[in-house]
Amino acid sequence: MMLAYQPVKSLATINVGVNQGLSASKRILPIIDTVNLIGINEDKINLNLENGSIDCKNINFNYSTNLENKVLKNINIKINGGKMTALVGQSGSGKSTLLSLIPRIYDPKTGILEIDGQNIKEVNLFSLRKEISIVDQNVTLFDDTIFNNIKYAKPDANDDEIYEAAKLSMCSEFIDKLENKYQTLIGENGVRLSGGEKQRLSIARAFLKNSKIILLDEATSSLDSETEEKIQKALDKLTLNKTTVVIAHRLSTILNSDNIYVMEKGMVVDSGNHEELLTKSDTYKNYYNKQINKS
Ligand SMILES: Nc1ncnc2c1ncn2[C@@H]1O[C@H](COP(=O)(O)OP(=O)(O)OP(=O)(O)O)[C@@H](O)[C@H]1O
Ligand SMILES: [Mg+2]
Repeated sequence: MMLAYQPVKSLATINVGVNQGLSASKRILPIIDTVNLIGINEDKINLNLENGSIDCKNINFNYSTNLENKVLKNINIKINGGKMTALVGQSGSGKSTLLSLIPRIYDPKTGILEIDGQNIKEVNLFSLRKEISIVDQNVTLFDDTIFNNIKYAKPDANDDEIYEAAKLSMCSEFIDKLENKYQTLIGENGVRLSGGEKQRLSIARAFLKNSKIILLDEATSSLDSETEEKIQKALDKLTLNKTTVVIAHRLSTILNSDNIYVMEKGMVVDSGNHEELLTKSDTYKNYYNKQINKS
């Protein structure tokens, strides 16, 4: 009896483990099931990139199936290849959403998005994403070394390419101060790195990948001016002659942009350069006075 006691007691607790597993799988399965929403188009032709111009034609988008309250409404814009284009607008106006349509993180509900005249829904998804780098602070990082986290952008890169990317992105400055240098483990999703360091890692990845199209979500959280300056220098180098679409929060970025689109409630309401917009767009003037002027 004494010997049987412990095994029988364990049997009674199995139920708890099984039920925890069941409820966890109930939550995870819908997520796994949604992965295939965007076709990867393995059998389709590759994107043939020329100067990397982007055309949005009549784009409407909504996160839910309910077509009321659209997040993007009738977006018709042209983004010039090799130039810098800025998106500005209040929080929630749809800037990040619009950016996420370019690498097909989401597809428009209606309308077409073309790169160099090719409908991006009709090309091989890998060939599309190969040409695009996304730079922001919410970069996905792995609990691995800094070296491997940079290398992720180009798995067949050699060591020198990785050191070069780290140098160009000004990552080497903070990496050199770490005890284990490039072999430092950065923790789950980079918890051991600051926002500015994470942003530089994502710039390093972009240098390594060397894609023609750069999507940039400028940080809203303010960094100290020295870090800010380093990031700015790295970005200036990275975006030179690339098609850059930037969600701009800083005046210097806005002044550097060839064209600015002003977004409001899911629509593009005005466009032009900074000077033009200041004279013709009340929405822009408002936004500028409230958001940018103060920073
Ligand atoms: N994953 C999502 N699921 C559902 N709704 C979302 C999702 N992401 C954004 N939204 C909604 O879509 C609208 C546009 O959001 P979006 O993130 O594009 O705005 P934004 O202009 O980038 O704002 P911010 O300047 O604050 O980053 C918002 O109303 C937002 O609540
Ligand atoms: Mg956003």
